[in-house]
Amino acid sequence: MTTLKIHHIGYLVKKIEKAKNTFESLGYLIRQDTVYDDIRKVNICFVEKDGYLIELISPVSDDSVVSGLLKKYKNSPYHICYETDNLETAFADLTSNGFTAIDTPTPAPALDGRKVVFLTSSAIGMVELLAPAQASS
Ligand code: NI
Repeated sequence: MTTLKIHHIGYLVKKIEKAKNTFESLGYLIRQDTVYDDIRKVNICFVEKDGYLIELISPVSDDSVVSGLLKKYKNSPYHICYETDNLETAFADLTSNGFTAIDTPTPAPALDGRKVVFLTSSAIGMVELLAPAQASS
């Protein structure tokens, strides 16, 4: 089994500026200000507190990848992202261990273009895998 390291918790929000301000009022620091992900049609920013990195994700249009999830879950955490030492190996490991791929490895503009992929498990819900920082692909 490949090594997985928790990178961030993905947190759905309806209004990203309001959410960012409210997290700041709780003592979070902005680690990356809002970036538009044109592949997924979402705004994303990263806030951090006590070593925990939280990714705020907000749909920009009704056909974004998270619009349906936001209707279902409202403002709430919905995935844990794991940094991998090899994305392809980790992806293969998880799919052979009962996880179902939701998409294919795709660059994430909010994470310096590093590739990410989402999978789901009937036991724990959605997980995200992140390619290592120095990957050149
Ligand atoms: Ni994420």
